[in-house]
Amino acid sequence: MKKLWGGRFKKGMHPVLKCFSYSLYVDYQLLESELEIDIAWAKMLGRTGLLTKSESAKLVRSLASLMRELIPSDPHDKLPKAWLQDYEDVHTLIQSRLEKKAGSLGKKIHTGRSRNDLVVASTRLWARKKLSEIQKKILVFQKSLLSAAARSRDLKIAGMTHFRKAQPVLLAHHFLAYLEMIEEDRARLAAAMARLDLLVLGSAALAGTSLPIDQKFLARELGYSKIVTNSMAAVSDRAFMTEIVSGLAILWMHLSRLAEDFILWNSEYLGFIEIDDAFATGSSLMPHKKNPDVFELIRGRASVIFGHLQTLLVLQKGLPLTYQRDLQEDKPAFFDSVNKTGLALDVLSLTLNGVTFNAEALKRSVEEDALYATDLLEYLVEKKIPFSEAHEAVGRAMRFAIDHRRPLESLGLHEFRRFSKAFGADVYNLFNETVSVTAKRTKGSTHPERVRAQIKQWRIRLDAH
Ligand code: ARG
Repeated sequence: MKKLWGGRFKKGMHPVLKCFSYSLYVDYQLLESELEIDIAWAKMLGRTGLLTKSESAKLVRSLASLMRELIPSDPHDKLPKAWLQDYEDVHTLIQSRLEKKAGSLGKKIHTGRSRNDLVVASTRLWARKKLSEIQKKILVFQKSLLSAAARSRDLKIAGMTHFRKAQPVLLAHHFLAYLEMIEEDRARLAAAMARLDLLVLGSAALAGTSLPIDQKFLARELGYSKIVTNSMAAVSDRAFMTEIVSGLAILWMHLSRLAEDFILWNSEYLGFIEIDDAFATGSSLMPHKKNPDVFELIRGRASVIFGHLQTLLVLQKGLPLTYQRDLQEDKPAFFDSVNKTGLALDVLSLTLNGVTFNAEALKRSVEEDALYATDLLEYLVEKKIPFSEAHEAVGRAMRFAIDHRRPLESLGLHEFRRFSKAFGADVYNLFNETVSVTAKRTKGSTHPERVRAQIKQWRIRLDAH
């Protein structure tokens, strides 16, 4: 099959080098974006006189028909296996198919450009579309977190630090914590998306071109508000990909953390949640098993995304300007990060919507005297005992209870008063999860009114999108 180069070569490419260097199996994903760019390019060539009007129109028609042929719902479906060996990359594929359709006129499409600027242009366009899909999927996921918060609004759970019971919190507060973290991820990705708004075409191989390429027209056609200001940066830099994958990696870090919480909650040891059968898996050996594989795969797959970020960073480090073929290795990492994220968000949203809560197990988790030690401390502080003195007093009472294998709550008032004279009979009211959460008053705290207000605000905020 024809290459996009070859004039200065005496021999064809060795088949082993073909195998080694061809990239269609990855960059076929750019087919649609690249055809869109080609259509804009063909129109532009007609306006500038590099093509006649009728040549331009014919090319546009041929490209549009290629688009219909080559872009079914899943582009992979239509790619004959043989093409992977026949065509070096997506650019070569389009060029050859176009020449089949439009005859030798097809040879004019590549006027004034290089694959170096083309591949960046197509990838940016691809990213813009995919990231706006991801933004929508993040929103759906946030809505499923909000719904989990609303469904669990009356439930309390033993909040943990060091994976040891700390203080009672509303389970909804826990879900809203993730909602908030994910919101920041969404904003980070939106900022990265804003930087995609740049037309890099016209950079040609590295230096720009002497041909009268109309970049303003191209920008308008393709929906860009900014035009490249340095052709060398445009063909060299993959910071836009690195930034997006770094934003995705942070998102995956959060998803993985959430997955871990759910794995623990789903364990018989805690037993706080039940996963819908449609989102759980069994064991080929142990008939009783029902496993949380969705969450384990999320936790595991996060490592793949972190690896992709590392790939992109190391790929560019020490790479002289401008384009080097090394940069071809950016696409597997980039595409895979974006594609895996979309799917992960889909499955997580669905799984979360099917999670139910075990109210009794959650209730049991907060029936432990030690969870209220901090409330006792704050009670003493309210009674004007200096903070560290109060801390010491409650600590010693706790020590006493542990030594005597008794719950703290079972200490008599005279026993409490041995540790601080400020203890009164009302101390026993404190051993209660509702009293504990309701006592919190700071902004952002787990007070039920605050949490309810948060749920309301999030609902308005998420519905506004
Ligand atoms: N497959 C190449 C890549 O992904 C396309 C650009 C090739 N350019 C070149 N001068 N060989 O980076």
